[in-house]
Amino acid sequence: MTTPAPIPVFLDCDTGVDDSVAIAYLLASRAVDLVGIGTVSGNIDSATAARNTLDLLALYGRDDIPVAIGAHDHLSHPYGGGAPWVHGDNGIGGVDLPRSAREPVAASAHELLIELSHTHAGRLHLLTIGPVTNIAHALEADPTLPTRIAGVTTMGGAALAAGNISPVAEANIHNDPEAAAALLGADWDITLVPLDITVEHSLDEDDRAALLAADTPGPRAVGAILDHYFDFYMPLYGRRGCALHDPLAAAIAAGGITLTRAPRVPVMVDTSQGPGRGQTIADLRGQRLGDRHHEGARTRVVLEAEGELAPHLIETILRG
Ligand code: BDR
Ligand code: CA
Repeated sequence: MTTPAPIPVFLDCDTGVDDSVAIAYLLASRAVDLVGIGTVSGNIDSATAARNTLDLLALYGRDDIPVAIGAHDHLSHPYGGGAPWVHGDNGIGGVDLPRSAREPVAASAHELLIELSHTHAGRLHLLTIGPVTNIAHALEADPTLPTRIAGVTTMGGAALAAGNISPVAEANIHNDPEAAAALLGADWDITLVPLDITVEHSLDEDDRAALLAADTPGPRAVGAILDHYFDFYMPLYGRRGCALHDPLAAAIAAGGITLTRAPRVPVMVDTSQGPGRGQTIADLRGQRLGDRHHEGARTRVVLEAEGELAPHLIETILRG
C-alpha cells in the first residue's frame, strides 16, 4: 500500500500559545506539507505573530516555509490590543525565542494565499486558527479562490456551548464577525471546529513535562511557551492545563483524529452591534437526519471526535 502524498496546507494564524502548539504538530505531521503561513492580529498584532512564527520555524530548521504578515486591523474596527492575560505580552507566554535572521516575505498574507492556491490548485487546504480577516481580503481580491481550494478547516465559533469572549461568542469569530461571515458564505467546504469540542480536549502538566524533556529545541520551546497559558486555564479545569483549540483544528485538517459527529448544517454569524455580536448560529435542527436534510449546506460543525487528542498530539510533536 502506498502512503498518500501529504496535503499542502496554508495556515492562517495569530501566534499565539495554542497556535504554537498547532504549528509544532503540523511540522511534525507526515500527513501535511505546510507550504505557507499568513498571520493576522488576534492574540497579538499580526507583525509580532509573524515574528513568533518565524522564530518557532527556525527552531525546527524550517526556514523554507514562507511567512507573510497579514491584516493588522479587522474589517470593521481596528485591532484591539490582543489578549496578553491569556497569551502573554509577546503572544507566546513571555518566552524569548532566539530571534531568527529571516524576515517575512514581501507579499501580504492574502496575496501569499492566492499565489499558493495557484501553485497547488485543487489540492491546497486552508487552515485558519485566528480571526479570518486575511481570508476575507483574499476572497475580495480574488473571488475565484474557492475553486482552487480543496477544503477549509476553521477553529472558531460556539454551536451550543458558551462563548469565551462574550456569553455567546468565541474569540476568533468575535474579533472579525464580518470576515467570518464572508468565509462561511463562500463557495467551499468548511469544517468548523468550535469551542463545543475544543474545550473537551486538554493538555496537562505531564504533557508539558514530556515536551520540556524533549531532546530537540522545538518541542522544548513549546513546553516553555505553555507555562503562562496553563495559569490562565486554572479556573476552567481546576488544575494547570489548557484547552486544545488550535491543535484540534490542526489535527482534524491533518486527518489525525476521526470525527464521529460533524453535521453539515447552515451556519450564520451575528454581525449586529448587539450582545450577540460574533455568535455563530448553527442550525442543528434535524442534524441527525443526515447531510441530505440541509441540501446545499457546505459547513460541517464538529461536535464529537473519537479518542483523546492529547496523546496523539504529544506523540506526534515528540516524534518529529
Ligand atoms: C481561539 O482564540 C485564540 O485565543 C486561540 O489562539 C484560539 O485560536 C480560541 O477561542
Ligand atoms: Ca489562534
